[in-house]
Amino acid sequence: MCGIVGYIGRQDCKEILLRGLEKLEYRGYDSAGIATINENGVQVFKEKGRIATLREVVDTSVQAQAGIGHTRWATHGVPSRTNAHPHQSNSGRFTLVHNGVIENYSILQREHLENVNLKSDTDTEIIVQLVEKSVSEGLEVEEAFRKTLLQLKGSYAIALLDKENPDVIYVAKNKSPLLVGLGKDGFNVIASDAMAMLQVTDQYVEIMDKEIVILKAESIAIKDLQGNSVERAPYTAELDVSDIEKGTYPHYMLKEIDEQPLVMRRIIEKYRNENGELSIDSHIIESVNDADRIYIIAAGTSYHAGLVGKQFMENWAKIPVEVHIASEFSYNMPLLSEKPLFVFISQSGETADSRAVLVQVKQKGYKALTITNVPGSTLSREADYTLLLHAGPEIAVASTKAYTAQLAVLAILAAVTAQGKDLSLQFDLTKELGIVANTMEVLCGQKEEMEKIAREYLITTRNCFFIGRSVDYYVGLEGALKLKEISYIQAEGFAGGELKHGTIALIEDGTPIIALATQEHVNLGIRGNVKEVVARGANPCIISMKGLEEEGDRFIIPALHEALSPLASVIPLQLISYYAALHRGCDVDKPRNLAKSVTVE
Ligand code: F6R
Repeated sequence: MCGIVGYIGRQDCKEILLRGLEKLEYRGYDSAGIATINENGVQVFKEKGRIATLREVVDTSVQAQAGIGHTRWATHGVPSRTNAHPHQSNSGRFTLVHNGVIENYSILQREHLENVNLKSDTDTEIIVQLVEKSVSEGLEVEEAFRKTLLQLKGSYAIALLDKENPDVIYVAKNKSPLLVGLGKDGFNVIASDAMAMLQVTDQYVEIMDKEIVILKAESIAIKDLQGNSVERAPYTAELDVSDIEKGTYPHYMLKEIDEQPLVMRRIIEKYRNENGELSIDSHIIESVNDADRIYIIAAGTSYHAGLVGKQFMENWAKIPVEVHIASEFSYNMPLLSEKPLFVFISQSGETADSRAVLVQVKQKGYKALTITNVPGSTLSREADYTLLLHAGPEIAVASTKAYTAQLAVLAILAAVTAQGKDLSLQFDLTKELGIVANTMEVLCGQKEEMEKIAREYLITTRNCFFIGRSVDYYVGLEGALKLKEISYIQAEGFAGGELKHGTIALIEDGTPIIALATQEHVNLGIRGNVKEVVARGANPCIISMKGLEEEGDRFIIPALHEALSPLASVIPLQLISYYAALHRGCDVDKPRNLAKSVTVE
């Protein structure tokens, strides 16, 4: 949450910063700002709202060859112009942007800044005031910066300008993502995500926690907090500019839904060995086999993927699995088995709740595997092993292609583990995933029908329930999350049998119920549940699978392997949510109050 950028070089930086922020807007969009620096001093432009609003207040006549920028997801202090970054020290000498949370900010304020008049309600402002205080006490700027960082507890990616030295941007990182991008002809940049600066460079250097960077147009110097130099080689970001553009799509979400068949085929290719068989790094399989229980840790959509993944692992590989919400697990740890393996599922690889658990389990000496879409992300770096989703950048806040990619990778992990244990699967997963990809294509081609369903059931409703049994229940949870997060309709997913234990009291005439019926062994059960709600006035929308359909079903998914049905049945739910949000006039890609990458606990 929150994104930062910086540029120092020969060109005017305003457009580079603004474009970078537009690419980072998925990280937060409450408010935004940039600061530019030249020989005349520092100019700050900031505003509550989106980057588009910021653009309107930036003075285009200002020319500056260095600057920093920020897009905010509020943690401390409401979204407002005052709380928007950049923040300045009281003398105006120092200007700073920050992504993260300073946990001890009130202690630092009390102990060191009692007589300093703070202008904002943010935790960030104390950083810039502390730097100024140390400089006023006689320290050199770099020393003052390092001293301040040593006082901070929490997470930060920081960029700092000094009005008296326009040739340097001071940069620091701890727990929040930050990369340095190397320009070819006399410039360097920083960004929370390589995506933001892909327009100017594909060469990046990773910055580790508790490191600073002295960023100049012609050089970068990485140091630890004691001032010792650190050498690190750059890498080439394997991102294509077209991956991060919407192209002809009206929204990233629709583009990402449509990419799912392609992602499925890419995953099959990436996880095949030279003999054409599905394969996973043998160290990972050994760790899975060594474990007496797997603990899946995740949040939101990734948690929902974990619930389905548990079925794959238990049914195919015969390993007991528990699935936990990351934010609960860190202070409510269950009794662990003797040889646990922790599997973190995270699209972004940056979710702070999951990372908090990873830090704890690593301290206890347990092995961890991260399943993520982002190579080099924090959860990937800090776990023992990583399995990549290969879904390409997911930019819409609502996760779609990452969910189905997570299911596919979990299925492959379960199948390869099963194979190694001589547990025969009775089906060819490669072939079945190929069928899934084709089915996804068929479903993505039925947008008009999905739009009709959205209009019929959801445009004016206050609430909506999703029901299903077995894995359909888990997909229902994901369908409900999709709908509520982008359309703001109160939506909940329930196990079909559970509704009558309380929630059925909410059913009124016309309440939409979306019921999934893709599982033969529970088909009678879910049909019975639909009858119960219909008897109380509900308006049912049954989505079933070919072979299990009954008269009156609203939509029928082509037949595919029953265990893999979540990979397909989620697509109608994604599309229905998309059209519901669209026709209710919601901002599909950037729903209110949310951010793509939740880097605060
Ligand atoms: C919902 C959504 C969120 C994320 C959750 C975890 O559409 O995107 O619920 O799934 O914030 O994020 P990751 O997977 O990045 O750890």
